[in-house]
Amino acid sequence: MTRQELIGFCLTFPAAYEDYPFDDIMDAGAWAVMRHRTNRKSFALIYERNGKLCVNLKCDPFEAGFLRQAFVDVTPAYHMNKEHWNTVALGGDVPEEELQWMIGKSYDLVKPKAKGRKIRRDSAMRKKIVAFFSASGVTRKVADSLSEAANADLYEIRPEVPYTKADLDWRDKKSRSSVEMNDKSSRPVIADKDAHIGEYDVVFVGFPIWWHIAPTIINTFLESYDFAGKTIVPFATSGSSGIGETVANLKKSVDASATITDGKMLNGKQTKESLTAWVNSLGLT
Ligand SMILES: Cc1cc2nc3c(=O)[nH]c(=O)nc-3n(C[C@H](O)[C@H](O)[C@H](O)COP(=O)(O)O)c2cc1C
Repeated sequence: MTRQELIGFCLTFPAAYEDYPFDDIMDAGAWAVMRHRTNRKSFALIYERNGKLCVNLKCDPFEAGFLRQAFVDVTPAYHMNKEHWNTVALGGDVPEEELQWMIGKSYDLVKPKAKGRKIRRDSAMRKKIVAFFSASGVTRKVADSLSEAANADLYEIRPEVPYTKADLDWRDKKSRSSVEMNDKSSRPVIADKDAHIGEYDVVFVGFPIWWHIAPTIINTFLESYDFAGKTIVPFATSGSSGIGETVANLKKSVDASATITDGKMLNGKQTKESLTAWVNSLGLT
């Protein structure tokens, strides 16, 4: 397996993404960290050492010891907790299927625990996710609190090209946001399409109000998945504007069988109690 194939295999797991957090302290791009999108925990750290492609993988302590005895190329993890992590050097005595199995085990150990889901299923509640776009952090805060209040997963809609301060200058008619919002057919590219919307019944969609409606990246998001039969609950933050024509505009981007509720402005301080009261009032269970 090459480095790219290894990264590609890790990306086949639900909600997996690659991250390069150590760029500034390591050789550029040397450590690829594969994480779970919901809790951002890493399950595979990929790098080269002594000319060999290596991957650090999580395992339970008993299995870690067993694998180290079974394979020469499985050793206590380089640079990590040696009780719970192993390093596998590729191209040696670890067969590819065995490596894939170890990656799967590592992923299972770090992915969000099923407890929350079980509670939801046991109480016949519908499965929810809060998907949000935030250019300057205001909507992100609200989305965070909402995901807790609604017992929902959290997913960030990220533009492939992040918005700079200049891009957000609404006074400049030529800024990126002005140009995009002047063209209703603009569809800013999103960085990934791994929100797994198919797994959810209710999708809260949050964004800042731009020129009285949702940024067109929200249309990109809605058009990137199949929302047939799902309930979409828009919420937004703004300087002062209300939700206006936002919902009517978003309806055009989803299947007619999707239900879109009235949008909700969540400006100002939102307490867990006020958010919970709002979620309960939606009657989504
Ligand atoms: C390009 C642009 C257009 C905006 N248009 C409006 C608007 O029409 N009405 C309004 O009240 N606020 C407007 N705002 C302010 C944002 O809606 C507000 O600051 C929001 O809370 C930012 O959320 P964020 O930090 O999650 O990006 C605009 C901001 C930008 C950058």
